[in-house]
Amino acid sequence: MPVPLNVAWKPRMDDARSLASRWVRKEILELEAYAVPPFDGPVKLDAMENPHGWPPALTDAWLAQLQTVELNRYPDPQASALAPGLRRFFSVPDAARVMLGNGSDELIQLLCLALNRPGATMLMPEPSFSMYGMIARFTGMRCEGVPLRRDDFGLDVPAMLAAIKRLQPALVMLARPNNPTGNRFAPEALEAVLEAAPGLVVVDEAYAPFAGDSVMAWLERWPNLLVMATVSKIGLAGLRLGLLAGPPAWLEQFDKLRLPYNINSLTQASAAFALRHEDELRVRIARVCEDREVLFQALASRGDLDVWPSEANFLLVRLHGRDAARVHSGLRAQGVLVKNLDGSHPALTACLRITVGTSEENRQLLKALDLVLGGDSDQE
Ligand SMILES: Cc1ncc(COP(=O)(O)O)c(C=O)c1O
Repeated sequence: MPVPLNVAWKPRMDDARSLASRWVRKEILELEAYAVPPFDGPVKLDAMENPHGWPPALTDAWLAQLQTVELNRYPDPQASALAPGLRRFFSVPDAARVMLGNGSDELIQLLCLALNRPGATMLMPEPSFSMYGMIARFTGMRCEGVPLRRDDFGLDVPAMLAAIKRLQPALVMLARPNNPTGNRFAPEALEAVLEAAPGLVVVDEAYAPFAGDSVMAWLERWPNLLVMATVSKIGLAGLRLGLLAGPPAWLEQFDKLRLPYNINSLTQASAAFALRHEDELRVRIARVCEDREVLFQALASRGDLDVWPSEANFLLVRLHGRDAARVHSGLRAQGVLVKNLDGSHPALTACLRITVGTSEENRQLLKALDLVLGGDSDQE
């Protein structure tokens, strides 16, 4: 029965608001929910999704596989049909244990819940993935940022080491390649952080498949290292599946916080199927890398913006003397959605982040940029 909109409704809503603000934790009240803008335009380049779907024959085989899933049963808690494929794809060393999450986001949340002793700090370079800070805040963990170098967005190692010494962080989060800057921190910089950190260092390799470089093998060398990966960027964002790999001693603790059956049966069956067709996934990754270079050249040849080299599946651009919000909404009006980062961090003034789409989507983006910025592009 729908609730009748009678005179008692409004006061009751006001009562609920004041009750919520009395009982909900202050840091939650102050938080803004992670915003995902509604968009039904043709060119969606805002969320680092892989633009390539599967060929019809593969889709048919996948659907046939799904018919065997028993939806009346709980999922396999060990994801035993899936785990070996994931370990192989991400080259997890035999000695490392793996824990799966409902996206890497859930794994970050589990890390924070486990490490959040009173006064515990998460340290991260900034700008980086916004969910690190957000999850730290809503789990009640202190979060401190160390600015990246301004010229090349590299890790400022002396500043990181000073912050580590001062804050003794329980957790250091390093995205490599980094979002939203697209660069890969130097191995020596990583080693310096691992050497100095008293607690855990998590290298988030969400974009590593596009860089062709991973520190997964380092798990055998560093007892304070965990490596995180996800299937979201390689063409399976809809499944929500992330992976944390590292020494069993760490992961058996975090596993206690994982809710039972967090990876649903359809995700397990679909991801296992996709990983049995690893070549298809690799082809899509390679295609994105090729298109990234073409798009980079086209953007770099424009005189009205700067673009940074990227080892991920997106490009960061800074507009020259233009209001990023207006350009963003101008592109949107042309049916192209990108991410406006202006205002999210001082280093990102006038910046947009553009996910690499299909060749056709990238052409449409460049055409829309021409229209909105009124400039020329070599692509057209
Ligand atoms: C660095 C980084 N890590 C993790 C994620 C989230 O991954 P998932 O979709 O597995 O939650 C993102 C998403 O944008 C990201 O940029």
